[in-house]
Amino acid sequence: MKFFIDTANLKDIKEANDLGVLDGVTTNPSLMAKEGITGAQNILDHYIKICELVDGDVSAEVISTDFEGMIAEGEKLAALHPQIVVKIPMIKDGVKAIKYFSNKGIRTNCTLVFSSGQALLAAKAGATYVSPFIGRLDDVSTDGMNLIEEIRLIYDNFGFETQILAASVRNVMHIINCAKIGSDVITGPLSAIEGLLKHPLTDIGLATFLADYQKGNS
Ligand code: E4P
Repeated sequence: MKFFIDTANLKDIKEANDLGVLDGVTTNPSLMAKEGITGAQNILDHYIKICELVDGDVSAEVISTDFEGMIAEGEKLAALHPQIVVKIPMIKDGVKAIKYFSNKGIRTNCTLVFSSGQALLAAKAGATYVSPFIGRLDDVSTDGMNLIEEIRLIYDNFGFETQILAASVRNVMHIINCAKIGSDVITGPLSAIEGLLKHPLTDIGLATFLADYQKGNS
């Protein structure tokens, strides 16, 4: 299973990358705004900085919502760096754009997916990744993990090569459950990835080992 970090914060990206387990980065317009990255050129420059930090796929989202606009923006983004994956929203023109990019060999991440029907459409159009937002489904009292299970089943039934990129991951249990179901990728904040490290018995055990060592060697 691949681990992506869901942020535009260079410090967090570097920290996750230094752990040695990072396979890529996802961003979105809200995450860019959160880092104060505004203006077309600054945004493009920031994507290049991210690509230079990490050896893996970097999702860069289009702002346009019409077919021609998404194509123009997506081609510009894809030309920025070979690691860029063009992130396209799950709307009618988005599906058309995914098909267009798929025919041209440009990789895409279909974002804002909340149903298995949408995921089926994204795969039919040839998306490289599909991003079901599990945390946001949980937020509205709908089990996000059920969606990952449904998509896994549908993709396996037909051998779709689109990778399931579980997005809007908020915590360790999201990651563990995605791993159990067989999600190809998860993307979440640094806190969720680092959360995998933690267990109180590890801390207690280590403290005891070190204390016993001190007793015998002081
Ligand atoms: C997906 O690529 C999105 O950037 C992201 O995972 C959304 O997460 P959120 O629901 O925590 O904002």
